[in-house]
Amino acid sequence: MNVVGGYFEWEPTASGEPLHPHARLALNSGRSCVGCLLNVEKPAAVWVPFYCCDALLEPFRAADIPLKHYGLEPDLSVSPGVELGRGERIVVINYFGLQNKQIAALADRWAECLWVDNTQAFFHTPEAPKAFYFNSARKFFGVPDGGYLYSPDDAALPSPETWQRNANYRFEHLILREQGEIFAGHEIFRENERRNGEAITQISRLSESILGGVDYAQAARIRRENYQYLHGELDSRNRLQESLLHLDAEAVPFCYPFLPQPPILHQQLWDQQIFAPQLWAECVSRDGRGFDWERELSRELLSLPIDQRLGRAEMDRILEVLDAVA
Ligand SMILES: Cc1ncc(COP(=O)(O)O)c(C=O)c1O
Repeated sequence: MNVVGGYFEWEPTASGEPLHPHARLALNSGRSCVGCLLNVEKPAAVWVPFYCCDALLEPFRAADIPLKHYGLEPDLSVSPGVELGRGERIVVINYFGLQNKQIAALADRWAECLWVDNTQAFFHTPEAPKAFYFNSARKFFGVPDGGYLYSPDDAALPSPETWQRNANYRFEHLILREQGEIFAGHEIFRENERRNGEAITQISRLSESILGGVDYAQAARIRRENYQYLHGELDSRNRLQESLLHLDAEAVPFCYPFLPQPPILHQQLWDQQIFAPQLWAECVSRDGRGFDWERELSRELLSLPIDQRLGRAEMDRILEVLDAVA
């Protein structure tokens, strides 16, 4: 029975323009979007890049769907050797949110057999999608959950009411972070990450409300400015190819990916309170012969923060620390 009256819950504040009004489904996480596609499409096998996190692999293991790993070219495009067999699908990650154009070409080639992982490209809003696309709001904003799924118009997907609203989340870490208590919130953050992979639900009302009030134009502008600034300073020392690093007019990046020569340890940045995550430690020791380039990326690539909370002062501090540890 619904309780009437009593103390207030979080006040819904949505007043801005939502970013994903045309998504087909608004679910709780990227993993739930993949889980939904696996339930509907029941593929014979799915090609997944070796350079990915374990979280992406969870729904495949849960649904017992065979995986085939593929490698990446020097510009992080899909290895040209990949040929989809009957009933197979392929996941392509839009790395760092920098690959919208490459992905559009792949959508022409593979159409609905392509599942685009836009978890690093939250601002990408495909129009009249030929392929499937999913993203993850937590990677870009302070919300407990949220992942939007885009599909071709004629794709038969369950209606949103199939699932309950997500109530299985933690959000106290968001408040602790706001209060400057980043370490105190870390365990809760991890617990929330885990819960987001547990069951498919609709996005929580809390995240929907917060995401409805975000100034997306401002967030996009700041991310792009920070990225361009770091790129201007680090370009000549970055081993990643310019064709990847070039920021297209529409792209809103996740981070600035820096592959320095000689390598810099993540820990050296963490010691200076620069939290550049390692994408992805688990990939270094993952089973599978070869994939040396992918393991190198996992070991050595620094995912430098450029998000909308940060400005020129923080970018300069990152540059100072990089110079000091080089
Ligand atoms: C590349 C990539 N794909 C998919 C996921 C899964 O997204 P979510 O955590 O929203 O389920 C993640 C992160 O966990 C990721 O880094």
